[in-house]
Amino acid sequence: SLGPKARSAGYRLAGFDEIGSTNSEALAAAAAGDPGGIWFAALKQTAGRGRRGRAWESPSGNLAASLLIVPDADANVLATLGFVAGVAMQKAFAKILPQGAVRIGIDGADAMNGSGRVALKWPNDVLADGAKVAGILLEMGKAADGSHAIVIGIGVNVIAAPTGLPYPATSLRDLGYERSAEDVFEALSEAWVEAFSLWNEGAGISEILNQWRGSAAGIGAPVAVSQDGVVRRGIFETIDSSGRLVMRDDDGARIVITAGDVHFGAT
Ligand code: BTN
Repeated sequence: SLGPKARSAGYRLAGFDEIGSTNSEALAAAAAGDPGGIWFAALKQTAGRGRRGRAWESPSGNLAASLLIVPDADANVLATLGFVAGVAMQKAFAKILPQGAVRIGIDGADAMNGSGRVALKWPNDVLADGAKVAGILLEMGKAADGSHAIVIGIGVNVIAAPTGLPYPATSLRDLGYERSAEDVFEALSEAWVEAFSLWNEGAGISEILNQWRGSAAGIGAPVAVSQDGVVRRGIFETIDSSGRLVMRDDDGARIVITAGDVHFGAT
């Protein structure tokens, strides 16, 4: 169920034992006139979607949740909501995992994510020990009145890591944390309220990006970013004020990346 802060902030919850995709359900609700502020959460998805057109397996016991919001903001501002979701995930894990299990606000210098610590991977993943423990899929749709509807879909590997992915995945259970999807959802619903209210304030986007940086994996370490078949390598320096990845190549040139697949490590 929703946490107390989420309830008093007026959020609603539609819960399902099984559903095709909570993101699809949220997009359909927007088109049908839902004003937003509603979570769609399922214990199992049969047609879950990941980024880059990939399928997302969510077996029973993992969490699949999508938040529909209809915010009054420009498209470039809306794109920063992915970082709000990342920060919210990080805060949610900090609420339910032991102290030290989550990377929060530590200086980026030692940033290779090790010893099971949960950290954020640019642009939209949550990692532990280099393996994905949660993923975020942001989709834009239309509200009934034609304005933008945003769906923030979050999949958390609570009891099982999806298989057949082109990258390593893990689960809270694999990491040694026995939690339920309900516990994770309640923490997430609370953490979202906290992160989103920051974002909504005047200096909010820069504060969200600050928090995101403080929880980032791989800052200061070698990184390879591939986009449209082009691979760029360098040292991951930071995330800039628009949320772009900044790296420095061997020649000392500063490279700014808006989109791509990130690999950590020298190879
Ligand atoms: C990724 O590829 O990393 C993003 C995964 C996002 C999965 C979540 S599960 C809840 C929501 N509904 C979906 O169909 N996808 C997202």
